[in-house]
Amino acid sequence: MTLRDIIYKDTVKFILSGGKGGVGKTSSAGAMAVLSAQHGFRTLVLSTDPAHSLSDSFDQDLSGGDVIPIEGFDNLWGMEISTEKGMEDFQKVIGDGNIGPEAQMAAGLMGDMTGMAPPGSDEAMAFGKILEFIEDSSYDRVIFDTAPTGHTLKLLELPDLLDSWLGKMLTLRQRLSSMMGALRGFFGGGDQEDSSWQMIQQTKDKIRAARIELSDPDTTQFVVVMIPEAMAVFETQRLLASLGSWHIPATHLIINQLVPPNPSCSFCSKRYEMQQSNLDDIRELYSDMDLTEVPLFDGEIRGIEGLTKLGKILIGEEVE
Ligand SMILES: Nc1ncnc2c1ncn2[C@@H]1O[C@H](COP(=O)(O)OP(=O)(O)O)[C@@H](O)[C@H]1O
Ligand SMILES: [Mg+2]
Repeated sequence: MTLRDIIYKDTVKFILSGGKGGVGKTSSAGAMAVLSAQHGFRTLVLSTDPAHSLSDSFDQDLSGGDVIPIEGFDNLWGMEISTEKGMEDFQKVIGDGNIGPEAQMAAGLMGDMTGMAPPGSDEAMAFGKILEFIEDSSYDRVIFDTAPTGHTLKLLELPDLLDSWLGKMLTLRQRLSSMMGALRGFFGGGDQEDSSWQMIQQTKDKIRAARIELSDPDTTQFVVVMIPEAMAVFETQRLLASLGSWHIPATHLIINQLVPPNPSCSFCSKRYEMQQSNLDDIRELYSDMDLTEVPLFDGEIRGIEGLTKLGKILIGEEVE
């Protein structure tokens, strides 16, 4: 299956664009979002990179933590996930913003017992949003412009971490509840259940559902963007290995920023040869994947026009 097939396939709900810093993740995410919208899908493009550049890429302010309609479309929206707003939303998912006394006590004990703090970083916020959009059926397609590899790997290992953390909380709950029952009797408190436990169970269920969606090749594709340079090859190897271990489908590679041959310029020729030699290695290394080669443009890729041009190359169409 080509990238074109993936982009136009209507079962594909999530496309993630990832890779090393500066290789073209944001441009590719933007271009795939424009293609999806032009095809008629109600499309949301979401940046999970704390160093956002989606606004710059679309040449429109998409910051502020809300979904913003993208100018020139009636079926394309964008959003840079805001750390602060994301934290509030994440707490809502986790426990309506106020975690009950039993859960607090368990969380405290967990901290003491395992030293494992509840996830609450940038990744957790981005993940809270992902959970929200996985449940949301108002979009046919959600495209993630992810952060450079290390950060994104942390984000993608969160479901596992959270699942086991919440699982431990629930186990502790069983031990605690008899104790809390005794305390309630002692102090004469009511015996109403702490609703945050229910929230924890629900969050755990949501995470399970997200993991199933994110590992289904009919629903999800992680498109790895790279440039033909050794460092990017190493990083791609690591990224693909991690994606494999989490069963996140990744069968498409975008090889970006290929310089054209230019025999009259020795600097250009050296770069061309270096890239071609790496490209040979990449073709061999990833012979079982679908590779899309993208030339280096003579200018920056910005705005709908630039993204449309890149999009055409991604789906194998001629550009003028
Ligand atoms: N094929 C290309 N030709 C020319 N410029 C490119 C190409 N791909 C990316 N760029 C430019 O390189 C910079 C980094 O691209 P970006 O998509 O933001 O990468 P990332 O999100 O991986 O950091 C941007 O200024 C973008 O316009
Ligand atoms: Mg980027």
